[in-house]
Amino acid sequence: MKSNNRIARAAGLLAAGALAISMAACSTPASDDGLITVGFVAVGPEGAWRAANEANIQDTFTEEAGYELKYAPATNLDQKSQIDSFTSFVDEGVDVILLSATEGSGWEDSLKRAQEAEIPVILIDRGIEPDDTSLYVTRIAPDNFVVAQGVADAANAAFPDGANYFTLEGPAGVGVVNERNRGWDDAINDNFNKIGAQTANWSTEEAKSVFETVLKANNNDIQVVFAQNDEMGLGAALAVEEAGLTPGSDVWIATIDGTKNALTALSEARLSFVAEYNPLFGETAKDVITKILAGESVESYIIVPSLTFDSPEAATTALPDRKF
Ligand code: AHR
Repeated sequence: MKSNNRIARAAGLLAAGALAISMAACSTPASDDGLITVGFVAVGPEGAWRAANEANIQDTFTEEAGYELKYAPATNLDQKSQIDSFTSFVDEGVDVILLSATEGSGWEDSLKRAQEAEIPVILIDRGIEPDDTSLYVTRIAPDNFVVAQGVADAANAAFPDGANYFTLEGPAGVGVVNERNRGWDDAINDNFNKIGAQTANWSTEEAKSVFETVLKANNNDIQVVFAQNDEMGLGAALAVEEAGLTPGSDVWIATIDGTKNALTALSEARLSFVAEYNPLFGETAKDVITKILAGESVESYIIVPSLTFDSPEAATTALPDRKF
């Protein structure tokens, strides 16, 4: 039985909510045709994960659904082009801004400008550094720290006596790279020996080249690769084959993203572990925007659930239903 003051509190919250909804209902969308305008400061072409994530956002925020999505991909992953697009959206007075940051730092001024214009900002995937949750409404993404911990846990299980490992990182300065390193470092066992880490800029070709050099420099004495995305893991597998070794049995390669290409490679035992970093959260973003524009509060970090795949059989089973 709820006590009286809890009922009173619940009634008060409902009234406040109703008031917020009625006030928000008065807020007119920025576009003349009654559509909610969403400025999407995006990364643009970067790989399979990004293509899936940005297509999902664009497929979600359609005119039929009541939105005008203004898609602004970065020019060659350049942060300045993103800041320029962000500023234009603020000046234009869009209803909400979605931001997938090419760089973790350097966003304070832009975010404060949106705040002064009372335009809510939602971080999509990428966080900002330093993280200041007062500068944005929420971040929607899988939890990189936890995803990377899961990769390290799988490495620990595969090599209980430890191993030499190398990390293929995304570009320097990208927030998720630091989060993934922190998650791996937090969970990897002390009997693992870090031979080194180097960025391969999310690229298969670059990862192949980097890891070929690393294998040669270490007489192939690397048993584990932590590749921070699928494309780089596939590049490492090519380097292992180029060295006359067998990926999977000679070198255990784990990746993050969970794209079809990675699961296909896992089904063929060319990769050994794939941690999904689920890119399909457009509907979640739409629900969050609905709440925000209705004056409701939302969590400052909305975690997108993600799966893991630890065997060829698991990958083979999952492949027919994969959407990215
Ligand atoms: O921010 C997410 C990362 O960016 C993905 O893991 C990678 O594939 C993409 O380029």
